[in-house]
Amino acid sequence: MALVNAKDMLTKAKAGHYAVGQFNINNLEWTKSILLTAQEMNSPVILGVSEGAGKYMCGFKTVADMVKAMIDELKITVPVALHLDHGSYDGAKACIEAGFSSIMFDGSHYPIDENIAKTKELIDICEEKGLSLEAEVGSIGGEEDGVIGAGECADPDECKMIADLGVTMLAAGIGNIHGKYPENWAGLSFETLAAIQEKTGTMPLVLHGGTGIPADMIKKAIDLGVSKINVNTECQLAFQEATRKYIEADKDLEGKGFDPRKLLAPGCEAIKETVREKIELFGSKDKA
Ligand code: 13P
Repeated sequence: MALVNAKDMLTKAKAGHYAVGQFNINNLEWTKSILLTAQEMNSPVILGVSEGAGKYMCGFKTVADMVKAMIDELKITVPVALHLDHGSYDGAKACIEAGFSSIMFDGSHYPIDENIAKTKELIDICEEKGLSLEAEVGSIGGEEDGVIGAGECADPDECKMIADLGVTMLAAGIGNIHGKYPENWAGLSFETLAAIQEKTGTMPLVLHGGTGIPADMIKKAIDLGVSKINVNTECQLAFQEATRKYIEADKDLEGKGFDPRKLLAPGCEAIKETVREKIELFGSKDKA
């Protein structure tokens, strides 16, 4: 199946009260593990690529071509969207050119008027090319690609203004942060989420910083209109832990244990297990 944009899968998710996972990719192993698991679970999936990860993987065109070829070679039939995560204005344009099917333009650090103007321009381009577009209001806390946000709560009226421009999905800060949550984290602001949901109606809402949010909070967020949940760090931690165990058990010293296909296998299995758990929790199993 060719890449699809995220509109149809998220409209269905919002109506069906479940969420589609966005899992960020870092390399071939990550991509393969996520695609195979989505297929096994018969779930739609969104592959997220940050600008830093895109650079690491030798550019957006390399990523788009790799993902498309992999979908073909692995005979993936579930809907797959390839999505730029926290894109800059220039990064968004580069991904549109490279063949991505979905874009996030993160204009949350601009004054609202400038965020609106730039978002509007990108919406027009995406509409013409059949791509979906995610916008952000209220910065998501934590660090991603060196950008540190404080985790503020979005203003529901600003969310409505951006939603009304015609974006496909809207990321709104509700106290969520990227990476591990600190011990003293106050939790998600469901009050803010409910107010945003009330103002934005059928617009699919996006929850960033999916790593480490307790299952009951995830379920409540889905009940309150979240239809897309982003997970990145949790797959990285699962990969790291499994790889560490392999090396600490001296498996790399046994036979051909140094072969990267063996060395990276436990980490890949750990990514698959994490993605499996998230697809179950988000409720997108068998929704392909
Ligand atoms: P985590 O790394 O906290 O899972 O967040 C991922 C994310 O929101 C990507 O945009």
